[in-house]
Amino acid sequence: MTQTVPLTRLENVGRIFDGGAIVALRAVNLSIEEGECVAIVGKSGSGKSTLIHLLCGCDEPTSGIMRWRERPAPSRRQWQMLRATEIGIVFQTFNLLPILTALENVEIAMVGQSVSARERRRRALELLTRVGLEVRQNHLPAKLSGGERQRVAIARSIVNNPALLLADEPTGSLDSVNAAAVADLMFEIQRLQGATLVIATHDESLAARCRRRVVMRNGCIVDDSDAANAAGWGVDRLSPEGEREPDRAGDGEREAPR
Ligand SMILES: Nc1ncnc2c1ncn2[C@@H]1O[C@H](COP(=O)(O)OP(=O)(O)OP(=O)(O)O)[C@@H](O)[C@H]1O
Ligand SMILES: [Mg+2]
Repeated sequence: MTQTVPLTRLENVGRIFDGGAIVALRAVNLSIEEGECVAIVGKSGSGKSTLIHLLCGCDEPTSGIMRWRERPAPSRRQWQMLRATEIGIVFQTFNLLPILTALENVEIAMVGQSVSARERRRRALELLTRVGLEVRQNHLPAKLSGGERQRVAIARSIVNNPALLLADEPTGSLDSVNAAAVADLMFEIQRLQGATLVIATHDESLAARCRRRVVMRNGCIVDDSDAANAAGWGVDRLSPEGEREPDRAGDGEREAPR
């Protein structure tokens, strides 16, 4: 069997705050392969968001090593590049730019890509429409409901067809219909584009759709149902529902950035 390189890997990663008064993560070891679908669950304060912030390079560990495609400790600049090209994030607090409209908040994620302004607008509108917000495209975040802001953040996170999509409580502010719709959208990206999906969530129905479940407690991973990896299966060939996808050897199915 060919050895695959993990997309991202944490080696004994710790994160303390306030000079050690708060230990948010303790010696976490985690390896995530390309195409995996991972739910990070655990009680409030267990370290899920801290882990997501490290996985996207928005924060740095205070001990241990982060790797990206087995390259150790990317610099801040390299993380910035990765977030502009390969990593999409839905923050728990959305982090929309307050002076930009919903449409511009999605468009801005494509600035710096070789995409024309016209194409940026077309693609941003397409994704806002996918999350049901076409009619709110010209609203500033302050004029949007919490759930609407969350959907703008989701549209922004996927606009560059990320290899890694990190979502921190992506359905936390949504009603059940919209929660199911955005979950479907994220799983579709995982399945059709071969993206890796990591979702921190309290939503059990959402976590249940992920093939792998990582349980956190007090900053530690206390359970990791990485059964598929342990069995040596190609996790990337499994749909979120656990059914085998048709063989995509030679792949080429991951869409080229538009
Ligand atoms: N910037 C910070 N400064 C100090 N303490 C922090 C900081 N960020 C997080 N913490 C603390 O680290 C711990 C882990 O926080 P984290 O936000 O990762 O939890 P969580 O599992 O995402 O919780 P929730 O489910 O409520 O979102 C908590 O005790 C939190 O108070
Ligand atoms: Mg959190």
